[in-house]
Amino acid sequence: MSQTYGPIFLLKLGSKNLVVVSNPELANQVLHTQGVEFGSRPRNVVFNIFTGNGQDMVFTIYGEHWRKMRRIMTVPFFTNKVVHQYSDMWENEMDLVVDDLKRMMFDDKFESLDDPLFIEATKFNSERSRLAQSFDYNYGDFIPLLRPFLRGYLNKCKDLQTRRLAFFNNYFVEKRRKLMAENGEKHKISCAIDHIIDAQMKGEISEENVLYIVENINVAAIETTLWSMEWAIAELVNHPNVQQKIRDEISTVLKGKSVTESNLHELPYLQATINETLRLHTPIPLLVPHMNLDEAKLGDYTIPKETKVVVNAWWLANNSAWWKNPNEFRPERFLEEDGGTEAAVAGGKVDFRYLPFGMGRRSCPGIILALPILGLVIAKLVTNFEMQAPPGEGKVDTSEKGGQFSLHIAKHSTVVFKPVAA
Ligand code: HEM
Repeated sequence: MSQTYGPIFLLKLGSKNLVVVSNPELANQVLHTQGVEFGSRPRNVVFNIFTGNGQDMVFTIYGEHWRKMRRIMTVPFFTNKVVHQYSDMWENEMDLVVDDLKRMMFDDKFESLDDPLFIEATKFNSERSRLAQSFDYNYGDFIPLLRPFLRGYLNKCKDLQTRRLAFFNNYFVEKRRKLMAENGEKHKISCAIDHIIDAQMKGEISEENVLYIVENINVAAIETTLWSMEWAIAELVNHPNVQQKIRDEISTVLKGKSVTESNLHELPYLQATINETLRLHTPIPLLVPHMNLDEAKLGDYTIPKETKVVVNAWWLANNSAWWKNPNEFRPERFLEEDGGTEAAVAGGKVDFRYLPFGMGRRSCPGIILALPILGLVIAKLVTNFEMQAPPGEGKVDTSEKGGQFSLHIAKHSTVVFKPVAA
C-alpha cells in the first residue's frame, strides 16, 4: 500500500484511525524527534484483556506508570551486568532458551521438556499467542456495534488470562514471595522476580503489576527470540555457504577457543548474519503500534488524537530504494555497503532503514539479551553441525505467516543436523 499511497497514509477502520509510516525520515519523527507525542500504545479489545487495561509495561500509555515499570524492569533484566551474570548459563544450555529465561526470572529451571510445568507454561503461552495474534476479532474492535458478536471470543480470552495469571502466581511468584518472607532481612535478591517483588513491597507497584511484568516477559522475550532463531536456522539451511563462512570466521578468529558471550563482538560475519535474518524476516514487522494521546503533526499532516501509528519496519528494511537486491539473504551487505540513511541521534547515528527492535523511548530493552542469545545459538549450532534440508528437499520452505504484530515462519520444517567432522 505504501507504494500506492506513499510514505504516510491514514486508513479509517470503522471507528479507528490507523496511520502507516514507511520512510526513514518519518520513522525518525515518530520514534525519536516526536517520541513523547507518539510514545503511547493503542490497545484493542483483546489486548485490553491480556494487559488488564494497561497495567503492564509493553501496552501502557506513555507516562508515569510506564516510566516506573520500565525503570523497575531495567535492573533485573536489561543491564550488561545481568547479561554477564547469565552468559555462562546461556553458553552451557543454548538449546533450552526458555529454560534460561525462567532461571533468570525465578532462580529456577524446568527439569526437562517433559516437566509438567514447562508443558503447562507452553500451552498457556501458545494459546494466548493464538488468540491475541489472530485477525478473527478485528471486525468487533473496529466497529463497536458489532462487539456483541465477539462475546464468546472475549470470554475465552478472559478465561485464559485468569487461569494463566493464576498459574504464574501460584507456581512461580508466590514461591519466591514465601522464600523472601521466610528469609526476611537476610534475603539476598538473586533473580529478576525478587527485584520485582521488592519493588512491590516498597509500594512502587501493585501485586497485579508484578504478574503483568511476568506476563510481558513471557510474551515479549520468548516468542520473538524463538521466531528469530527459526528464521535464522531456515536461512542457514538454505545458504550452506553462510554456515561455512561463520565456521571459518570462528576458527580463524578464536583459534580453537569456544564462542562465548564476551567474544561475540570479535565475530562480525556472525553478527551480520543475525542482522540479515532480522532484516529479511523482521519478527515484529510494524513494531508494536504507537499512539498519540493528543492531536499531533507528522510530516505535513495533522494526525487526529488517539490514532494508531505503525512504523513499517519491514518495508524500510526491504525496499529496493535503500537496499541492493533486498530479497536476497546476503549477510555481507551489512559489512560492505553504506547505510546512507543514517540520522544523528544523541550519542551516535541511527540507520532508520533498519529498526527490528524499534528505536527511542519505546524501543526494545531486550535487545541487550536477544542479540547475544541469538549469536550464541547460531555459533554453537554451526560449529557443531551442518544444517541441511531433509534428503530430496533442496530447501526448507520460508513462507511467512503474519499475525496482529508478528511475522513468523509458516511451516515448521524438519532439519537434518549432520555433525561437523572434527
Ligand atoms: C529477536 C528478539 C526480539 C525482537 C525482534 C524484539 C522486538 C521488539 C520491538 C519491535 C518492540 C517495539 C518497539 C517499538 O514499538 O518502537 C519491542 C518492545 C519490547 N521488547 Fe522486544 N524484541 C525481542 C526480544 C526481547 C526480549 C528478549 C525481551 C525481554 C527479555 C524484550 C522485551 C521487550 C519489552 C519489555 C518491550 C516494550 C518496551 C516498551 O513498550 O517500552 N524483547 N521488542
